[in-house]
Formats: sequence, structure tokens, C-alpha cells
Amino acid sequence: MSPKFSIVTGASSGIGLALAEILAEKKSNLILVARRIDQLEILAKKLSSQHGIACYTFQSDLTNRSEAQRLKSWCEEKKFPIDCLVNNAGNGFWGEFEKVSINQHLNMLDLNVIALTNLTGEFYPLLKKQKSWVLNVASTAAFQAIPTFAAYAASKSYVLSFSRALYHEWKPKNITVTTLCPGPTKSEFMQQAQLSHVDKIAAFFEASAHSVALSGIKGMLKNKPEVVPGFLNWMGSKLVQISPRYLSEILSGKFFH
Ligand SMILES: NC(=O)c1ccc[n+]([C@@H]2O[C@H](COP(=O)([O-])OP(=O)(O)OC[C@H]3O[C@@H](n4cnc5c(N)ncnc54)[C@H](OP(=O)(O)O)[C@@H]3O)[C@@H](O)[C@H]2O)c1
Repeated sequence: MSPKFSIVTGASSGIGLALAEILAEKKSNLILVARRIDQLEILAKKLSSQHGIACYTFQSDLTNRSEAQRLKSWCEEKKFPIDCLVNNAGNGFWGEFEKVSINQHLNMLDLNVIALTNLTGEFYPLLKKQKSWVLNVASTAAFQAIPTFAAYAASKSYVLSFSRALYHEWKPKNITVTTLCPGPTKSEFMQQAQLSHVDKIAAFFEASAHSVALSGIKGMLKNKPEVVPGFLNWMGSKLVQISPRYLSEILSGKFFH
């Protein structure tokens, strides 16, 4: 059993684009959401012709709080039977807290935390009509506080905690909520987050967006609460949970500095 009509946010690049490709291979119809409509249109054309699915695009800046409702209303008008919501769009800004503008921090929280929560709530009435899936993209940054990446790591801790709680709440309603926690992954993220100084170390761990997305979809279809792709990332996430907090914070701060 797999989704028949999925929404993927942040589908214009990186992990979101790969998630859309894999869902299309599984014959799910798609709604691709992001700000760069040209990239979405190119992908939609490619996926619909390769896989014979219906693939729609929806241009949206999800930091705007009314967008979740606008997307839901559009889906209702079109009578799309949405049974999968992938909250993947996200960003982050590296740097000592006070050196990154407060607007950038707030914009990131609007996207990583508010939009994800808002979309999950807005789509619940559609999801509960049949067996459904929600895939929320967090990060291995969710497992510990990270000096110099403080607000981003905290936003991803929120995603993990919120989604794991919802996994239990929605299990009896036949809606699976899975959290995907990628480690360093090849995408536009590092450059956008101004993390190019860790590029060389990250390259050692870096996974392809496709392999991360594949682990996420496989885990979701097995109804898992959480997926940490890659053995090193998985091991790291387990070690962090049994190490003294102070130590893991110092080590993660050193990695990103
Ligand atoms: N790459 C990594 O190392 C890594 C590691 C752990 C977790 N993650 C998480 O994985 C997710 C995907 O990131 P990625 O690595 O694939 O990075 P990416 O290549 O930069 O993709 C980010 C996606 O989010 C969309 N987006 C950004 N701001 C948006 C906004 N205001 N409204 C709507 N869409 C917006 C972007 O589309 P537009 O610019 O077209 O709007 C893009 O499609 C994020 O949640 C990220 O935190 C990434």
C-alpha cells in the first residue's frame, strides 16, 4: 500500500525533489510546492511524462501564515484526495546567534516550525478520510543543542518532538507520522546556510539526496516513527542520547565551528 495523492513542500531542489521523484515512481499523483515555480514546472512535466501521473505545481512562500489554508482550500476545490503530506521545506542560518539577523532567525522558524505545524493541522481533515501518511523532515541536528546553529537545531528538535508525539496520537486514526532525520546531505542547504567552511568534513559523511529520500519513503511506508538514514548518522544519534548532554553540545559546536 502506498500514497495515491501526495503533497511535497520544498520540491524545487535537494531532498524534496528526490522525495517527489520516488513518490512518482510509486505512482502517487503529486502537488509540488515551493517559491521557484520554474523549477517546479520542469520537474512536474518530467515526472508526469515519465510515470503517467498527474503532477501539479503550487507556488508558495510558506513563511506566510495564510499559505497553508490557501493550499488546503485549493486542494478541496479541486477535490484532490490527499493521502500524503511531506513537510520537507526548511532552511537554516549558521553563525553565532547575535551575528545572524533576527529576521533570518524568525523567517527560519516560520518555515521550519510554523508552516510545518500549520500544514499538518490544515490537512488533517483530508488525511483522516483514508489511510494516510505524513513525512516530516527534521535533521540529526534535532538530537542535541548546537552552538553556532542554535535556532536551527532547536527548530528541528521541535519537528522531532512534535512529530513523534503525533505518531502516537494519529496511529489509531490510521495516519502514520514519520520523522526523517538526515545528516549532511548534498543539496543547496549548505550554501544557503553559509556552512561552506564545513564542506570538507561534511563531504566525508555526505549522502545523496536520493538515498536520504529513499530511506525516508521506505520508513514511512513501513509505518516507522523515525528514520535516521546512514549507519554513521544512526550511530551518532544513539550515542548522543546516552552521552552527557554537555559533552555532545561541545562536540557538535566544534564540528560546526
Ligand atoms: N542538506 C542537509 O545537509 C540537510 C540535513 C538535515 C536536514 N535537512 C533538511 O532537509 C530539508 C530539505 O533541505 P535540502 O537539504 O533539500 O535543502 P535545499 O536544497 O536548500 O531545499 C530546500 C527546499 O525548501 C524550499 N523552501 C525554502 N524556503 C521556502 C519558503 N519560504 N517557502 C516554500 N519553500 C521554501 C526551497 O524551495 P524554493 O527556494 O524554491 O522556495 C527548496 O525546495 C530541510 O528541512 C532541511 O532542514 C537538510
